[in-house]
Amino acid sequence: MSEDPSTVMKQQVGKAAAARVQSNSVVGLGTGSTTAYAIQYIGDRLQSGDLKNIRGIPTSFQAEVLAKKYGIPLTTLDAIDRIDIAIDGADEVDPNLNLIKGGGAAHTREKVVDSLADQFVVVVDSGKLVDRLGSNFLLPVEVLPMAIVPVMRKIEQLGGKPELRMGVKKAGPVITDQGNMVIDVKFESISDPANLEKTLNNIPGVLENGLFVGVADVVLVGEVKDGQPSVRQL
Ligand code: 5RP
Repeated sequence: MSEDPSTVMKQQVGKAAAARVQSNSVVGLGTGSTTAYAIQYIGDRLQSGDLKNIRGIPTSFQAEVLAKKYGIPLTTLDAIDRIDIAIDGADEVDPNLNLIKGGGAAHTREKVVDSLADQFVVVVDSGKLVDRLGSNFLLPVEVLPMAIVPVMRKIEQLGGKPELRMGVKKAGPVITDQGNMVIDVKFESISDPANLEKTLNNIPGVLENGLFVGVADVVLVGEVKDGQPSVRQL
């Protein structure tokens, strides 16, 4: 295990979530650095024989690559009639377990998979907990490329400050797994996440935004106190 506290928290919380997966189940595999540990530990449990007959539904190309790396068989939504459990990260979590997601530009597929799961388990480190959504993290909105300008205008009319997400080590904008672009929006205050989620998704050209309201069942929080890692459940 790494000594870096942030990595230790992610590993611990990923392991705790992976421990909740049961044999003979369909598992939604989230995206991001925290969920990556959960995927790794699910793979470890399969390898050791502790877990049998799992099928994963990836929420992104990243999740698909990791699942293959760790030996988790994959399936698709067409082939199954239920998802038993989904494990996914978040960028912010409020006291009502509402989330901002989309730091990895995967929130559209994540919302499909996480919403379908009988149990959606969120894995975060303690730095993700906020009193009000939008406090630290901009709100991601996935948009059809041809609609970027009118969608940005509309978001400005709603009081948001939109910026097109740009690639790192890649010239130009981030392109999602679906071939779209992402606008990150600063809202002064998100007082009614449920209403804002619907309002944004009603703008023509918007595929999905990163507000996950009433979707999470369990939030596992990784912490390091006095040098000791621990996981608590919200
Ligand atoms: C990807 C996501 C991630 O789950 C979120 O950004 C958290 O990632 P990390 O665990 O790396 O902090 O929503 O779209």
